[in-house]
Amino acid sequence: MSSTEPDRGARVILIDNDRDLLAATTQTLELAGFSVTAFSSPVEALRSISGDFGGVVVTDIRMPDIDGLELFRRIRVLDHDLPVILVTGHGDIAMAVQAIKDGAYDFITKPFATDRLQQSVHRAAEMRRLVLENRKLRLVADAAQDGLPLIGQTPAMERLRRTLRQIADTDVDVLVTGETGSGKEVVASLLHSWSRRAKGNFVALNCGTLPESMIESELFGHEAGAFTGAQKRRIGRIEHSSGGTLFLDEIESMPASTQVQMLRVLEMREVSPLGINDVRPVDLRVVAAAKVDLGDPAQRGGFREDLYYRLNVVTLTIPPLRERRPDVPLLFAHFIERAAARFRREPPPVSAWVERYLRDHDWPGNVRELTHFAERFVLGLEDVEPSNNQVLSAKISDLSLPERVDQFEAEVMREALSRYDGDVRKTIEALKIPRKTFYDKLQRHGIVRKTFAGSEEG
Ligand SMILES: Nc1ncnc2c1ncn2[C@@H]1O[C@H](COP(=O)(O)OP(=O)(O)OP(=O)(O)O)[C@@H](O)[C@H]1O
Ligand SMILES: [Mg+2]
Repeated sequence: MSSTEPDRGARVILIDNDRDLLAATTQTLELAGFSVTAFSSPVEALRSISGDFGGVVVTDIRMPDIDGLELFRRIRVLDHDLPVILVTGHGDIAMAVQAIKDGAYDFITKPFATDRLQQSVHRAAEMRRLVLENRKLRLVADAAQDGLPLIGQTPAMERLRRTLRQIADTDVDVLVTGETGSGKEVVASLLHSWSRRAKGNFVALNCGTLPESMIESELFGHEAGAFTGAQKRRIGRIEHSSGGTLFLDEIESMPASTQVQMLRVLEMREVSPLGINDVRPVDLRVVAAAKVDLGDPAQRGGFREDLYYRLNVVTLTIPPLRERRPDVPLLFAHFIERAAARFRREPPPVSAWVERYLRDHDWPGNVRELTHFAERFVLGLEDVEPSNNQVLSAKISDLSLPERVDQFEAEVMREALSRYDGDVRKTIEALKIPRKTFYDKLQRHGIVRKTFAGSEEG
C-alpha cells in the first residue's frame, strides 16, 4: 500500500432492507472515498462475502429473513476477524452491546451523524488491512521455514511439497492416500498450518477406531437428552473445526450411515447436532486420509462412490518409502538427530550392517518404521551383534533350521510392533497369537516393546 490514506477506496459491504436509507448511506460512504457494494437482502450479501474479504461490513439490525445479528454470526464463521458494524434502532441497544461482546466491531444508533459512521468505517478498514497483511506475512514466514516437517528430495516428494503449498491456503477439500506410516497426517497438518486456518483448530478424528455408535455424536455433536446417556450438550468435532481443519483419518472405515450424513455436510457446509432441528453454518475444510485407493471399486468396498467423488477434488498420493529409497538416508539422518536430542545420547557410528539394512529393507511400516529404527539405533539396540542380530547379519546358510525360524520370527515381531507403534493389542491381533505367547516370545528374542511405542503413548 503506497497511499498515505490506507482506506482510500477501501471496500464496504452495506446491507439495509430499507432501500431509501440504503441509497443515502451508500452515497455518504462513497463521498468519503469508500467503494460501496449495497445489498437490500442479507442473504445475497452473504453470498458475496468470502473469508478474505478485504473490507468492512455495515449492516442494519432489523431486517426480515435473517437479521443483522444473525448475519454477523454467519460472517464470523466465515472469518473471525472481519469487522462488522451494526446499525441499530433505539430498541436494539442492549442487543448491540451484546454483539460487541461477541466480537462485532462497533454499533451506531440511528439516526446517526455521517461522520460518526465514516470514522468507524475508517478505523475498521484500517484494522482489516493490518489483519490481512499480517496473515500474508505469516504465510510467507511459515513457508520459509518449511524444510523440516516433510523431508524428502526425491521428485515425488518435491512435487508433493509444491502441490501442498499451492493448495494449502485454498478451501478445497483434500483426500490423502498412502500406506501406513507414509506421512498422511504430516501432510494433513501442513495443509492446516500453511493456510489461514492455522489459527483455528486442527481437529482429528479416526473413523476406524471409534465405535459406530459414537461416531455420529462425536462428529455432529448433540443436545442434552438427544439420546440415552447424552447428559450434557456437546459440540461436535465438525463444528469445533470451523475456521480450522477437520482431519478424517481412516475415512475408508466410516460407517455407511455416517457417510450419508457427511456427504450432506460437505455439500451444504452446515451441521445439525443430534436432537436439534436447527442447522448451523460451518466454515469447513476437510482433509481425509485413506490407506486404500478409494478410486478403485475393488478396494473401495462399502465406501460410497458419491462421497469419494465429493472428497476427491484433490487427491494427494504419498508413495511408499520403498519407492523413494534415496530419501531413506536423509530421513534416517534427521531421525537420528532427533532421537539423540530426545534421549540425550551421542548416536553410535553407522556400521556397514546398518547401511545395508537401510538400503535393502522394504520398510512395510514406511517412515514410521524408519523413525523407530533410528530410535533403537541411537539407543544402541540395533547395532551389529551378529549373535542377536537377525537374518541380515549372519550368513543364513550357517544356521540350523530352528535358528533360521527363530530369526525370522523375531523379525516378523519387530515389524509388526513397528507397524503398530508398539500397540500390544493391535500387534497381537495382526500376529494372531495369544497374548501370553506374545510376551513369551518378546522375552525370548530380547525385544523391548517400549522402544517401538510412538510419541502418542507419552
Ligand atoms: N516426509 C517425512 N518427513 C519427516 N517425517 C515424516 C515424513 N513422513 C512421515 N514422517 C513421520 O513418520 C511418522 C508417521 O507419519 P504419519 O503419522 O503422518 O503417517 P500416516 O500415513 O498417517 O500413518 P497411518 O496410516 O499409520 O496413520 C510420524 O512420526 C511422522 O512425523
Ligand atoms: Mg495417520
